[in-house]
Amino acid sequence: MRFARVGEKLRRYYHYYPGTVAVIGVEDPEKKSRANFMPAVWNAGLSFEPPLFGVAVSPKRHTYRLLAEKRPFSVMFFDFEHAELVAALGGTSGREVDKAEAFGLSLRWGEALRVPLIEGAFAAYELEPWDHFETGDHDLFVGRVRAVWEDEAAFDEDGVPTPERVRALLYYGRYLYGPPAPGLKRIKRP
Ligand SMILES: Cc1cc2nc3c(=O)[nH]c(=O)nc-3n(C[C@H](O)[C@H](O)[C@H](O)COP(=O)(O)O)c2cc1C
Repeated sequence: MRFARVGEKLRRYYHYYPGTVAVIGVEDPEKKSRANFMPAVWNAGLSFEPPLFGVAVSPKRHTYRLLAEKRPFSVMFFDFEHAELVAALGGTSGREVDKAEAFGLSLRWGEALRVPLIEGAFAAYELEPWDHFETGDHDLFVGRVRAVWEDEAAFDEDGVPTPERVRALLYYGRYLYGPPAPGLKRIKRP
């Protein structure tokens, strides 16, 4: 292995991939389905108490406008079998398409907040707007978790989504998707 510094211009910025894809859902009153969705691989848990979760969204996205209006939002996690759906949600814009109609999504609505959820996700959060930071060419939208949905079968007794239970969808960048590999090793702290 040759470990060398890259040139002046950082051509790509994907060294921290693969990442788990979160699909953001927001109510969109202009749609017949009243919902819009987009995948965000730039997502992160930010705090346990209060429970905060963040997504980085470019102002170019239709979703950005909806989030900037301080609407509550959902984030959903899908398995690898839903890669085509996630790619489709990321390849179209709610400016032109009612994605829920176009892709035949079965929706349900949050119980804590008015947020759209897609049937088939293995986990989902209902988030109320907490803060919004301008962070460059994407903004960080932070939500406070108000409700959690999960397919119990996808998680072990510690609440971990192990690859034996669920093949959580990972994104490698450049249109490449994959499942997590089996063979996890638990390394306890000394
Ligand atoms: C796997 C995947 C991950 C993505 N991650 C992000 C992201 O983290 N932030 C972002 O702003 N756009 C991201 N995108 C791009 C948006 O999902 C895409 O532009 C989408 O069409 C926006 O939809 P909207 O205009 O309806 O909001 C991603 C796309 C894909 C396919």
